[in-house]
Amino acid sequence: MKHRRIGVLLGGMSSEREVSLRTGEAVLAALQLRGYDAHPVYVDRDVDLVLRQQRIDVAFIALHGRWGEDGCIQGLLETMGIPYTGSGVLASALAMDKVKAKELFRLHNLPTPAYYVMHRRDEADVMEAHGDFGFPAVVKPVHEGSSVGVEIVHDAAELSAACERAFCFDDELLIERHIAGREVSVAIVGDRALGAVEISPRAGFYDYGAKYTRGASDYHIPPRLTPDRYRGILTQGLRAHHALGCGGATRVDIMVSESGNEYLLEVNTVPGLTRTSLLPKIADAAGISFEELCEMMLMGAGLETARRGRGDRRAGHRAFAGAERRAAAPEHH
Ligand SMILES: Nc1ncnc2c1ncn2[C@@H]1O[C@H](COP(=O)(O)OP(=O)(O)O)[C@@H](O)[C@H]1O
Ligand SMILES: [Mg+2]
Repeated sequence: MKHRRIGVLLGGMSSEREVSLRTGEAVLAALQLRGYDAHPVYVDRDVDLVLRQQRIDVAFIALHGRWGEDGCIQGLLETMGIPYTGSGVLASALAMDKVKAKELFRLHNLPTPAYYVMHRRDEADVMEAHGDFGFPAVVKPVHEGSSVGVEIVHDAAELSAACERAFCFDDELLIERHIAGREVSVAIVGDRALGAVEISPRAGFYDYGAKYTRGASDYHIPPRLTPDRYRGILTQGLRAHHALGCGGATRVDIMVSESGNEYLLEVNTVPGLTRTSLLPKIADAAGISFEELCEMMLMGAGLETARRGRGDRRAGHRAFAGAERRAAAPEHH
C-alpha cells in the first residue's frame, strides 16, 4: 500500500461538503504522516478525469451525503477498477436511504422507532397522513445526513411547518416516533464493534449546530449505561452494520429509551473523520490513534474489494489486477 498512489476523495456536491472537506484534510494529513503517497482529489462532476490524470490506485472516500456516501462514487470506482474504503455500492445506497435501512432492520428483527413515509405529493394533507400517530414525532428528509432538515415536532402546526422545510431538502420524508432517552453511537471497524459514545447535547437534540459547534454537546465514552446495556448496544450496532451488508468503518446511531430499550436510527457509512469526530474519539478510547484508524480503514480498501469480488470472481480479479498493474507501472512513482 505504501507504494500506491492514494487519492483522498473530498468535497463533493452534497449539503455536507464543508464537513467532507474537514474530514478529507484530516485524513490526508494522517496518511501522509504515516508515509503514504496520499493526494487530495477534490470531487466534482469531472472526478473520473481527475482520478485518471492523477493516476490514483486506491481511493479513500472522505465524502459525505449524496453522490459520496450513497453508492454513486462507489459505483464509479468499481467500474474504473479502483479499490476504495468503506461499504460497497448496495450497502452504501441502503444506508443512505433511511426508509430502506429501516425496512431491512425490521426484516432482521432489529428494533427501530415506528414511522411512516410522506411524499411531496401528499404535502397538502399532512395531518391526514399523520392520523393518530401522535406526538412528539421526528421529521427527517430520507436521504440527508448531519441532521440537515431534521426537526422534533410537538403538534400539528409544528409538523406542517417542519415538513414544508424538510421538503426543501428531499421529495420523501420520514416521520418517526420520538424516543426520549440517551443517544449513543456505536463504532464498527473491520467487522468489530470498537466501542460507543453517548452524546448529550447541551440544549435540544443533536442537530447540525450541536454536531459541529465546539462545546455544544457533551460526550461520554463509554456511554453511561449498565455493562449489560452497553454490550447490548454494541451487538445491535454490529447487527445493523451486517443487516445492510456494510464494510469498513461505520457508525451506528441508536437511541436508548428511558425504559432501556434500544432503537436503531441509522448507519453512517462514511463517518466524520476530523480529529474531534465521534469515530476517532471512540477509537482513541480503544487505544487507536487517529493515524492508525485512517491506516486501518485504508487497509480495508483492498479487503473489501476482494470480498465483493467473491460474487463475480473475474470482475474482482480484473479490478485487483488493474490496481496492481497501475501500482507497478514505473511512471507512477
Ligand atoms: N426517533 C428519534 N427520537 C429521538 N431523537 C431522534 C430520533 N431520530 C433522530 N433523532 C435526533 O436527530 C439526530 C439526527 O437523526 P439521524 O436519524 O441520526 O439523521 P442524520 O444524522 O443522518 O441527520 C439524531 O442524532 C438524534 O439526536
Ligand atoms: Mg445520525
